[in-house]
Amino acid sequence: EKGGYDHFMLKEIFEQPQTIYDCLRGRLDATAGTITMSGVEKYAEQIMNANRIVMVACGTSWHAGLVAEYIFEELCRINVEVEYASEFRYRNPVINKGDVIIAISQSGETADTLVAIENAKAKGAIILGVVNVVGSSIARISDAGAYTHAGPEIGVASTKAFTAQLAVLTMIALKVAHMKGSIDQQRYIHLLKELDAIPEKVTRLLEQEEQIKKLAEKYKDAQDFLFLGRGYNFPVALEGALKLKEISYIHAEGYPAAEMKHGPIALVDENLPVVFIATKDSYHEKVISNMQEIKARKGKVIAIITEGDEHSTALANDVIVVPEADEIVAPMLSTIPTQLLAYYIGVAKDFDVDKPRNLAKSVTVE
Ligand code: F6R
Repeated sequence: EKGGYDHFMLKEIFEQPQTIYDCLRGRLDATAGTITMSGVEKYAEQIMNANRIVMVACGTSWHAGLVAEYIFEELCRINVEVEYASEFRYRNPVINKGDVIIAISQSGETADTLVAIENAKAKGAIILGVVNVVGSSIARISDAGAYTHAGPEIGVASTKAFTAQLAVLTMIALKVAHMKGSIDQQRYIHLLKELDAIPEKVTRLLEQEEQIKKLAEKYKDAQDFLFLGRGYNFPVALEGALKLKEISYIHAEGYPAAEMKHGPIALVDENLPVVFIATKDSYHEKVISNMQEIKARKGKVIAIITEGDEHSTALANDVIVVPEADEIVAPMLSTIPTQLLAYYIGVAKDFDVDKPRNLAKSVTVE
């Protein structure tokens, strides 16, 4: 049942070329220049004219919402807020009729997310679900939505469901942007092609498994880790830190790279590994200068960079390269080395990576 892999987590990491493909299939047609999503089409007017979109989720799914915030604001020019479901449901949020809420959930059963959208629905919001488990509670209560089609995720830590969420959310953003006319045709077609190319790029990236395994050996005894990124890669840093905490029980924090100087930089010394998500994008130069700040304080830099960009990251102690991609779709690639790093550190420490202590696959209590 593990398909020859030692753990479900590894199997699911390696399924990502297929799961992303399955998620795009039947929806994205890069040649024809179309995205077919009936749920989104049904509420097209409301979404295009929404004053704001609120993403509601927990954990890894919340991180997908954060990436989507950057993408929706850039492509659709609609204000987006991303909320922890547990906070949103209890703080008497201002919800106006016609607000669009996107609930993101792998299991479709997370109690806080479910109640948050029940409340919002009662106040007249339109609920779109981005859910993996077909027929789950969140899918049923949503007005419309799009399944992620990642297949059953058995490993407690979410991996393939996350990249599938990113794929679906990116398609929704592109669809809305196209309908709204907020991006030009050329950029639209370019991004469809970029999205279409992701599964093949994930396959290539997974070839670095052995190298990441070596890095895991090298850094497994660290007490703490930092994960830093900017822009589209800032949520990837948060997700990388969460994965490491869950799987290896190493304390890790994710930060926007520029926030370092406002406090956390005090932690940096020669014992601290700092993972930079530093792929080539519009934030790149800024990230490199943040890397210099860490280097100057003797932190150990592990840089996730774009293939061919090795010269700009000569500062790094270790590098992991990912295929070149437009910054809008890059998180689907840059997140995968952090999954593998967490996995191999957990394995090196002999932990039960499929069932980390204290965690449940679906959190049906608040
Ligand atoms: C982390 C993880 C959790 C879930 C969170 C939400 O690896 O799996 O943080 O992402 O409990 O679960 P869903 O997406 O099922 O609502």
